[in-house]
Amino acid sequence: MNALERRLDVALQLAERAGALAMSLRPPPGAAVATLKSAQDWLTEADGAVEAFLSRHLAEAFPEDGFQGEETGSGRAGALRWVVDPIDGTSNFARGASRWCVSVGLVGDGEALLGVLAAPALGEVFAARKGGGATLNGVAIRAARTQDLARGIVEVGWSPRRPNAPFHDLAQKVMAAGAMLRAGGSGAMGLADVAAGRMDAYVEVHINLWDVAAALAILSEAGAATSDFLGRNGMLDGNPILAAAPGVADAMAEMSGIPIPARQTGPFTDAPGSIRVSPAQS
Ligand code: IPD
Repeated sequence: MNALERRLDVALQLAERAGALAMSLRPPPGAAVATLKSAQDWLTEADGAVEAFLSRHLAEAFPEDGFQGEETGSGRAGALRWVVDPIDGTSNFARGASRWCVSVGLVGDGEALLGVLAAPALGEVFAARKGGGATLNGVAIRAARTQDLARGIVEVGWSPRRPNAPFHDLAQKVMAAGAMLRAGGSGAMGLADVAAGRMDAYVEVHINLWDVAAALAILSEAGAATSDFLGRNGMLDGNPILAAAPGVADAMAEMSGIPIPARQTGPFTDAPGSIRVSPAQS
């Protein structure tokens, strides 16, 4: 087992345990059980507990690796850096809903190297490592073959970090293209749905590294097209994000003004052997 395979193995185990911890703290349906960090930016008891759990166990397993979490902002330096969102989709979690996940990503050398998203309330675990394929509950996944947005589903993510006008503009353009519009409250889950072929694109005018670090590895291994999130200071300040099925990537890039590197767009190709299952998953 090489270094990345070993890290994926540990990340899978820890993300599932962290998911169980979050489930044990999930509030019942009703008004939000959480505090507000700022307008519509929620913090629950589970966010702190899950981040502390992952920070501690990742440091024990890989003391040489760095760590960055959403809530504590605790930073440890290292050539490889774990990037954790303890609960992505906090607004859903805080109300007892199911669309949220624990997100554990690993970045190094400006690349997303592996990612695990554990969504225990949905019974789903997405995983990928560079060169090892992407899986959902151990089964290989692939971005959709959709070629026409008029047959597609597109999520436009929203947060209060940016003015509403660009959100309205994007939502209007998505509907004008004939696509079905979604806004599901978890960027990581929305991106994972693009990787799994359940949606055709996810776009948001600004998102943070911890929301996307794991999903970027999953998208890339599932053959989805993605914008260059980690470039241009994305690691520090966040960036816009666009992830799309290859057949609608050009149209989404033009619509949103978020470029996608050219080699990722165009007709879907399903080369033999292009779907690989990680040994850790098989
Ligand atoms: C948020 C969610 C939301 C996305 C925001 C994120 P959080 O993360 O992923 O869907 O639109 O940009 O900040 O607060 O649930 O961890």
